[in-house]
Amino acid sequence: MSTSVPANQGLAFQRCLEPDCGTTYDVGEVRTSCGDCGGLLDVVYDWDRLPVPKSLREFEQKWARRNEPLCRSGVWRFHELLPFAPPEKIVTIGEGQTMLQPSAGVAEYVGLNPGGLFLEYEGLNPSGSFKDNGMTAAFTHAHTIGAKRAACASTGNTSASLALYCGVSKLMQAVIFIGSGKISYGKLSQSLDYGALTIQIAGDFDDAMHRVRQVSEQLGIYLVNSVNPFRLEGQKTIMYRVLESLDWQPPDWIVVPGGNLGNSSAFGKAFMELHELGLIDRIPRLAVINAVGANTLHELYEVRGNRWNDGKVDHQAATEYYAELDASGRRASTIASAIEINRPVDYQKCLRALHVCDGVVREVNDEQILNAKARVGENGLGCEPASAASVAGTKLLREEGVIAPSDRVVCILTGHQLKDPTATIAYHTTDQEEFNRVLGSRGVKRAEFANRAVAVPNDLDEIVRAIQLNS
Ligand code: F0G
Repeated sequence: MSTSVPANQGLAFQRCLEPDCGTTYDVGEVRTSCGDCGGLLDVVYDWDRLPVPKSLREFEQKWARRNEPLCRSGVWRFHELLPFAPPEKIVTIGEGQTMLQPSAGVAEYVGLNPGGLFLEYEGLNPSGSFKDNGMTAAFTHAHTIGAKRAACASTGNTSASLALYCGVSKLMQAVIFIGSGKISYGKLSQSLDYGALTIQIAGDFDDAMHRVRQVSEQLGIYLVNSVNPFRLEGQKTIMYRVLESLDWQPPDWIVVPGGNLGNSSAFGKAFMELHELGLIDRIPRLAVINAVGANTLHELYEVRGNRWNDGKVDHQAATEYYAELDASGRRASTIASAIEINRPVDYQKCLRALHVCDGVVREVNDEQILNAKARVGENGLGCEPASAASVAGTKLLREEGVIAPSDRVVCILTGHQLKDPTATIAYHTTDQEEFNRVLGSRGVKRAEFANRAVAVPNDLDEIVRAIQLNS
């Protein structure tokens, strides 16, 4: 296996996803859509002329060279599978050193046999979410083309990640767009602390996304949202690490929360490429889980039957649905603020992923999400609300019989527990007013696994009695 990937020299390029268009662009071009038809862009490779390993096992050799930054990174360890940038341009801060943990407790909760449920802890990334996998890739591309400012709209994690890469590398200024009052304090505090220029828009994520596209175009700022095809290249590596942790045996299911749909799209591309390269012989099924209050994918895929259809996606279906949302004034609304998105930019690519992985889409409500989150937390490490949608969705798919008790299921825990303490505290609180304020309006009636703090007077006997009563 080659030790480093050469400068790509025409072996990697960008291509429009629309089958009737297919216009290609050099990797050095900065684009977030096709100049001819406005379609999404994909990064594609001339694999026949690239040094692709014969077996995925060859990647294990990189562990022995962990003192080299590109081998230490859980993203760039797989550079041969995302060979769009020369090694000397790569910006890495040791992202992707995450782990796959079997969880007997969560398996029992969702109705799987012991040993059948695995949690992929992406909250262990430097900025506390899976976003660092994609940010190192987009940031590397931005650096390659000499960008001086980078922007994103965010529900909080993409912005924290961008701010972190800018803060550490000092190569660019971060300009982040967030919906006012729409991101959790944990995430907002990261962006402020890392020194990002933070633009709070009176609106939600969908508004911020719309504006950041306009502004980055007008001011020539590099855009790192997942319309940026290089982001998804980095996020493919989450699946490589899952496979590696399972000794390269694909699981039966990958279950992931769906917001802007970058992750699910990246996973589908990862498996599609590995299969085409003959590096895996079986593709896991994919389940993408929406929140009920932000369920565009569920509505379009499961209810209205929109499909990939060899790339000839019925765009009119989405346009009509968005017009309905506008006419009824319906905005995205869920306690899982990370996935509070009604207009997912990677919708079309996600349809491809669902096609490649024989996928399903489900929606879970905020109560299901928070109960699942509490079970995850009780079994260690924990996650933020959006991440727990994967566990709640697995439980639902087990109840429906779509997932079998004997299946091996990987749930992606996308963000760290400490990202959103407000939701966690409200769930476990003894204070009914606080519960109602934060969760009541969300339709959460019962915190099934609440671990209430025990209030006691400052008195030794009372404290001892409280411990004896509660243990
Ligand atoms: N989980 C977490 C913790 C997230 O932050 C996000 C997205 C998702 C799941 C959904 O992933 O967009 O790839 O479908 N957060 C974005 C952000 C939108 O701005 O931080 P997706």
